[in-house]
Amino acid sequence: MADKIIKKIGVFTSGGDAPGMNAAIRSVVRTASYHDLHIFGIQRGYHGMIEGDIDRLERKDVGNIIHRGGTMLKTARSKEFMTKEGRQQAYENLMAYEIEGLVAIGGNGTYMGANVFFEEFGIPIVGLPGTIDNDIFGTDFSIGFDTSVNTAIDAVDKIRDTADSHNRLFFIEVMGRHSGYIALYTGIGSGAENIILPETKKSIDLLIQQLKMEGRRKKLFNLIIVAEGNKNGGAMEISKQVNEALGEDFESRVAIIGHLQRGGSPTGFDRVLASRLGNSAVLGLLEGRKNVAAGLIAGQVVFTDLKDAVSRKNSLDNQLVNLAEMLAM
Ligand code: F6P
Repeated sequence: MADKIIKKIGVFTSGGDAPGMNAAIRSVVRTASYHDLHIFGIQRGYHGMIEGDIDRLERKDVGNIIHRGGTMLKTARSKEFMTKEGRQQAYENLMAYEIEGLVAIGGNGTYMGANVFFEEFGIPIVGLPGTIDNDIFGTDFSIGFDTSVNTAIDAVDKIRDTADSHNRLFFIEVMGRHSGYIALYTGIGSGAENIILPETKKSIDLLIQQLKMEGRRKKLFNLIIVAEGNKNGGAMEISKQVNEALGEDFESRVAIIGHLQRGGSPTGFDRVLASRLGNSAVLGLLEGRKNVAAGLIAGQVVFTDLKDAVSRKNSLDNQLVNLAEMLAM
C-alpha cells in the first residue's frame, strides 16, 4: 500500500545553535508552503515539543531571517526528552496538531533523540546537520561550520598582529567538542604554526621539544591552535605546562574564542547549504522517507539512515592534517 500523503509537518532546532539555522528554517517553511503543506514551528527543540509550544508558520514569518545568526525557533538541550514519559508527552502534543512528519535541525544529540523517537512512535523524521562542529556523519559540511571557521580565522588574524609585534606565542582555543574540524580549518586558514587536535596524539613533551628547536633556529613561532576537545587539556592548561618547561624568558598568552564562534551572520556557503538541505528535507518527507538525515557529499544532496548517522562520526580528513603539518614547517 502506498504511503499516505503528508499534509502537516513540524520543524525545530535543537542543541547548540549554529549560523545558518534560520536559513534552513526559511527553506523548510517556504518549500512546505510551495507544496501546500501546513507547517508548524516547535519552539526550543524537544523541550517545546514536550510543553506543546507549537505554532503555525507561514511564508511571511520567515522573511528577513536568512542573514541572521542564532535560531528564530530558539533551541535547548532537553533532559526530559531522554525519558520515555517525556517522549510520550511530546508525541501526544504532535498528534494534537496532527503533525505527520518532522524536520529536526541540530547536531548529534538532536539526531539521537530523533532516532529514538522514530523507533518508538514511527513518526517520519528528516534530520538536518546544524552544528558548528562538523562532526556529523553523512555530510561533508554541517550548517554553521563555515561561518564559525571564518569567525575564528578573523579572530586569529587579529591576534597575529599583536603576537607578531611582541614576538609572543599565543595558544588560541577553538570550539568543536570532540572534533578537530574547526581547529584544523582555522589553523590552515590562518597559517598557524601548530594545531593540537583531539584526533591526533601530539604530546605536550613533543610540542615543548619543537618550541625549543624553533627557538634555537630563531624562527618566529606565533600561533598554536588548540581544539577544546584535545586530550592534553584546554589552551590554559597547555600554556601552563609549556611555560613551566621553558622558563621565564619564554612569553606566551592564551586566547579562548568561545561562543563568538557560534554567532554572527552566516556566510554565503552556509546560507546556500541550509537552503538546499531544508528544501531536500521537505521533499524527502513528501517522497515517503522516514528516518534519515540529509547531507551534502561531493556537492550532491544525499540521505543517510539516521541509525548510521548517530553511530558514526565525520572523521577528520588526514590529507588536511598532513597539509597543515607540511605548510607549518
Ligand atoms: O556543539 C556546539 C558547541 O558549540 C561545541 O563546539 C561546544 O563544545 C559546545 O557546543 C558548547 O556548548 P554550550 O553552549 O552549552 O556551552
